[in-house]
Amino acid sequence: DNSPKGQLTKLHDQAAKLYHHLLVNTEAGEKALHYLTKRGVSRKLIDQFDLGYAVEQSDEEVLLEYAQKQQIDYQLLRQSGLFTEDQQGNLHDRFHGRIMYPIKNENGHVIAFSGRILAPKATQNEPKYMNSPETPIFNKRRTLFNLDLAKKGARQSGSLTLFEGFMDVIAAFGVGVKNGIASMGTNLTEEQIQIIQRITSQVNICYDGDDPGQNAINRAVQMFTDNAPRLGVKIIQLPAGIDPDEYVQKYGGIKFSDYLSQNTENSVEFHLKYLQRGLNLKNQDELMGYLNAALQVIAGVSEPVAQDLYLQKLATKFGLDKTSLVNQLAKIQPPSR
Ligand code: CTP
Ligand code: MN
Ligand code: MN
Ligand code: MN
Ligand code: MN
Repeated sequence: DNSPKGQLTKLHDQAAKLYHHLLVNTEAGEKALHYLTKRGVSRKLIDQFDLGYAVEQSDEEVLLEYAQKQQIDYQLLRQSGLFTEDQQGNLHDRFHGRIMYPIKNENGHVIAFSGRILAPKATQNEPKYMNSPETPIFNKRRTLFNLDLAKKGARQSGSLTLFEGFMDVIAAFGVGVKNGIASMGTNLTEEQIQIIQRITSQVNICYDGDDPGQNAINRAVQMFTDNAPRLGVKIIQLPAGIDPDEYVQKYGGIKFSDYLSQNTENSVEFHLKYLQRGLNLKNQDELMGYLNAALQVIAGVSEPVAQDLYLQKLATKFGLDKTSLVNQLAKIQPPSR
C-alpha cells in the first residue's frame, strides 16, 4: 500500500519494531525492562503487545536517524506525529524516556503510540501517559486499544470487556481475559460505541475502583443506553481503590476471572447503587431524595416483572412497605432515557 496512509502505517510498524528492539535487546532499555518486570509484565506479554522503549537522552534521535537512513520523505515524517518540529523546521523524536505502547488498528497495524514515564507517579510538567497527536491514520475517537486481538477474544467469549487503561488490558490478557479493550482515558465516544456494537452484542464495563472510575461507568452506561440500546451492558465494579491491573497483581488471574464472572451488575443495579454516593441514608430527607431518584430509574424499566423485583429489593433494603413504593412509582413519568 503506497498511499500516504499506507506509508504512515508502515512507518509506525517500523517504529514499533525499533522501540521494541531498544527495550528487549539493548542496554538503554534495561531500566524500562526492569520496570515492566517489576509490574508483572512477562516477556511473552511484552512480545504480544510489541511494547517498546524510547531512549531517555533528548539529543539522541534514534527514530529520526532510522527514518532518514531509509530516506523517508520529510513531509511524511512531519505528518506522522512521531516527531516534534522546532522553529527551524528540524524534526526531533517526540518520545523520550518512555515505555512505548503501540496503538493498533483493527488489522493489527500500528497507527499511534502512547508513552508512559517510568516513575510510578507523574509530575506536573510530565504527564504519566503521552499520546501521539491526531494524524491522517490516528483518530482517537475511533480507536480502541487492543481491538485487533480482542476481536478474536470476543468471538470466543461472546463479549468485549472495556477497561480504562493499557495496563489493565495487558494484565487481563496475560491471565486469559482476552477480550479486553480500552478507550484510552475515560471518555468513551459514540464512534467507539458503534465499533463495539459491530463486533459484539455484549459489553462488560470494568473501570477502576475509584471515584473517577465510578463516574466514568455512569457516563459510559448512559452513552450505551443512548447510542446502542440493544447492546447488552454489564458492569463490574472493582473493590475500592484498585484497578484491574492491580487486582491481577495482588490476587492473581484465577481470582480475577472469578471476580469478573461473579460481580456483574446490570445498568439498573449499578444506577441504583451509584445514586447512593455520598448520601447519608439515615437522614430522612436524604433518604427521601434517594428513593425518588431510585424510583425515577425504576420507572424507566420496561418489564413489569423486573420493576417489581427492584421495588421489592428497595423495600426490603430500607424496611419499607412495597405498596407505598408502588403508589409513589405510579406518580412518576418514565424518563426519556
Ligand atoms: N491516560 C492518558 N493520559 C494520562 C493519564 C491517563 O492518556 N495523563 C489514559 C491512559 O490510557 C491510561 C488511562 O487513561 O491507561 C487510565 O488512566 P489511569 O487509571 O490513571 O492509568 P493506568 O492505566 O492505571 O496506568 P498505570 O497503571 O500505568 O499507572
Ligand atoms: Mn530531541
Ligand atoms: Mn483511573
Ligand atoms: Mn488505573
Ligand atoms: Mn493502573
